[in-house]
Amino acid sequence: MATNSTFQLFSSSSGVSGFFDSSTETPLPPPPPPVEVLSSEVSLNVICSVEPVNLEDGLTLLKGRVSTKEVFGLPNSDLVPGVYEGGLKLWEGSLDLIKALQAEVQNGHLSFSGKRVLELGCGHGLPGIFAFLEGASAVHFQDFNAEVLQSLTIPNVNANLSEKLSPFYIKRCKF
Ligand SMILES: C[S@@+](CC[C@H](N)C(=O)[O-])C[C@H]1O[C@@H](n2cnc3c(N)ncnc32)[C@H](O)[C@@H]1O
Repeated sequence: MATNSTFQLFSSSSGVSGFFDSSTETPLPPPPPPVEVLSSEVSLNVICSVEPVNLEDGLTLLKGRVSTKEVFGLPNSDLVPGVYEGGLKLWEGSLDLIKALQAEVQNGHLSFSGKRVLELGCGHGLPGIFAFLEGASAVHFQDFNAEVLQSLTIPNVNANLSEKLSPFYIKRCKF
């Protein structure tokens, strides 16, 4: 079977099992253990300031800003493979995704009403938040780093939902 090195998790050439940085073939530390994070488990140790993100057609969402140094003890950088995978930064692709989803909703090709949504590698979680505001019955957020969920995703959910919704609705969002 053909392999695509971009998506390679295990080294094919070294014969050593484990996770590898596919660009350098250097071994990565073991990934963090899978844990469930409850919406009440917001980080109390990190300052998260909130700012607006203006999308198209009058849609504005709120996003937090936290320091990579404060959360991970790392200098500000996009990512450290196997340790911090970039979840504290807002990546342009998620905004493009929201714009595409919004266009599909507006032209009647998509409805989130009553849907259950899972956002993988969510970071800020703005697409999941958009789905929720569009009527999803439940949204689950998942990320490589629990710290990202606790210091950024949960505050983003709370900031975007608190103006419009009661705590009952916030319970529909799972991490
Ligand atoms: C490029 S960032 C994108 C973040 C966010 N979706 C955005 O667009 O702003 C990649 C995200 O995927 C997460 N990630 C990377 N590897 C992952 C894995 N194996 N399982 C879950 N999340 C992962 C990172 O923690 C990070 O939040």
